[in-house]
Amino acid sequence: FEGIIRLRTNVRAIDDLLQGGLEPKAIYEFAGEFGTGKTQLCHQLSVTVQLSQDKGGVGGAAVYLDTEEAFSPNRIVNIAQRFDLDPNEALDNIYVIKVINAADLEDRIKFDVVKLVEQANAKLIVVDSIIALYRAEFKGRERLAERQQRLNYILDWLMRIAKVYNVYVVLTNQVLDVPMGYIEVKRPAGGNVLAHAVTHRLFLKKSKEDIKVMEVLDSPRLPFKASAMFRITDKGVED
Ligand code: GTP
Repeated sequence: FEGIIRLRTNVRAIDDLLQGGLEPKAIYEFAGEFGTGKTQLCHQLSVTVQLSQDKGGVGGAAVYLDTEEAFSPNRIVNIAQRFDLDPNEALDNIYVIKVINAADLEDRIKFDVVKLVEQANAKLIVVDSIIALYRAEFKGRERLAERQQRLNYILDWLMRIAKVYNVYVVLTNQVLDVPMGYIEVKRPAGGNVLAHAVTHRLFLKKSKEDIKVMEVLDSPRLPFKASAMFRITDKGVED
């Protein structure tokens, strides 16, 4: 793996957990209940990707596919200041695409995202969140197969873009209560399709007080159940 440039969150515990930061040509999933920091981490990475390599970035732009009106320019301003970036420049380097339905997401990824990667030095692709649109649109058991097929199609596109253009991909995902014997456990949504498509599956949860935890759920390299603690503050995500 020599020569791979890692994209850091600049949260020490998380970067250590990820063995130096995010690797390109891979898909990372942040799954968790609301308020566990998925969106905050995506905001932070959209800023750190712009930093120079010695500061944990790759000097690139970000594309933020926003399906839930989650993108917050104010948050970017705060995070940019923390990393000594000009807030307006930081915002200009994040291409926010509001997505309205699954077909729109597919078009945006196939056309707009590819163009931004090719022509605007976009190095990070964020999809926040991947599943919401599909769950809303393909309701009911009878449409599950169709939903999964469409999901598979777009994940396949994302992985090919990641590989061909050497970019970083982050998806956020919701969690569902899944019966396990007599108890229910929280599992990422999206079934086998999403489980197989993502490279590194990370589970976010709340701990004591304002502490959150990121835990490795599935990964070819990161140790299962290894975890990192972090906090969300006015400056973004911190140790
Ligand atoms: P959803 O997107 O709502 O499903 O959840 P999420 O997991 O993406 O959560 P998100 O990343 O939005 O994190 C929410 C947490 O961040 C909450 O605990 C908020 O209190 C905290 N948070 C968001 N903005 C700020 C801020 O400006 N300052 C501080 N201190 N905390 C913030």
